[in-house]
Amino acid sequence: MPPRVENYQGREQSFIKHLFLNKYLESAAYKLFQGRSPVFNFVDAFAGPWRVSDTDKYSDASFSQAIETLDAVRRSLLDMRRPGLKVRFRFCERNPASVAKLQQFAAQKPEFDIQVFSGAFEDNLNGIRSACRDGFTFTFIDPTGWNVDSGKIFDFLRNLNGEFLFNFMAEEVNRHAGWDGVAESLGRFLADPAWKAAFEAMPEGSNETKILQLLKARMKEARVATYLTDMAIRKPREDRIKMRLILGTHSGFGVEVFRSVQEKVEKEAVRTRHAIQTEESGQSQIFPEEQIIAFETDRDGVGCSAHFVWASELMLSTVSLKSGIAFGSLASEVMEQVPVRTTHLNKIATTHRKAGLLRFDLPIGKRTPSAQTKIWVGTSHDD
Ligand SMILES: C[S@@+](CC[C@H](N)C(=O)[O-])C[C@H]1O[C@@H](n2cnc3c(N)ncnc32)[C@H](O)[C@@H]1O
Repeated sequence: MPPRVENYQGREQSFIKHLFLNKYLESAAYKLFQGRSPVFNFVDAFAGPWRVSDTDKYSDASFSQAIETLDAVRRSLLDMRRPGLKVRFRFCERNPASVAKLQQFAAQKPEFDIQVFSGAFEDNLNGIRSACRDGFTFTFIDPTGWNVDSGKIFDFLRNLNGEFLFNFMAEEVNRHAGWDGVAESLGRFLADPAWKAAFEAMPEGSNETKILQLLKARMKEARVATYLTDMAIRKPREDRIKMRLILGTHSGFGVEVFRSVQEKVEKEAVRTRHAIQTEESGQSQIFPEEQIIAFETDRDGVGCSAHFVWASELMLSTVSLKSGIAFGSLASEVMEQVPVRTTHLNKIATTHRKAGLLRFDLPIGKRTPSAQTKIWVGTSHDD
């Protein structure tokens, strides 16, 4: 069952985070099970439970939701005659009281393959790696701040070669990153003790966007992902960025799924924010809810006009650097950075073709390029 906003009073940003996790996991698992691997390992590296309201079933905790979501996918594929699919759950938690709760939860669910690891994630990496020895591994890294030894975690992620969702705690980082007292811990977080020089050399920007940029650069250097895509989650009660979810993946499909899940989740975030405003003001909204959602997501959501323009420009500059690039790779590179979907990129590519800015052959009977279509700059001879 998807998360229910009623369970998240005062921490609605966690509702949005869980909604994203659920929807992404669902699509990723369907794709994986229908394709190459019968085994899906889900690692909840900073599992909690943490500030839950459903203390019986933990329906508002990431580990319990992952179980429900992944098992629902497994069962629905079983109904479609896909037997032999397996999901493993590996939960790690440092706080002993929370570990005890996780263990109790696991003991009540003997039908699932759950292993609980006690202690810091960074100290359990070998054990978790051996417990995910085959199959595809998805790791959820959800710390409360930036007290994370990223160097060790990057080695783990690179070796597993799966996907991860990293919750970057933007608000905390933003508040403290300029203070010398945190220079050492931020060095561990960035797996770069000498980070400060690069930080100070960066152009104007908020602390958190600069640290985010450094973190992503370090992740790429560590080869933990080919693509790093992110979206902001705001605190609905204060309308301020609280966190950013970063997906690390080696697959263009992962980037595409990320943007389509983002589009759905953005709508729920607007809905949640307006429900709170209505409740707090005691006054009903002048416009219907769906109209408010459309207005706000058209302003800065996935595929809005500003993102459309950004994607158009990035497509041209990418093709001019990588002449003959396949459309699938081009789309992944653009979507990694810009919140747009493949449908938007199809439109942009065909518009650029008509304007003589890009050159490519359309597959017979098609109006849009296929993933394999080679794209060049300029006008085709027969146009
Ligand atoms: C934000 S909470 C996790 C929430 C949970 N993922 C969810 O969405 O329901 C972070 C958890 O990580 C635990 N923690 C902190 N540092 C840790 C570490 N190095 N390794 C493992 N767990 C850690 C905390 O005790 C806390 O329970």
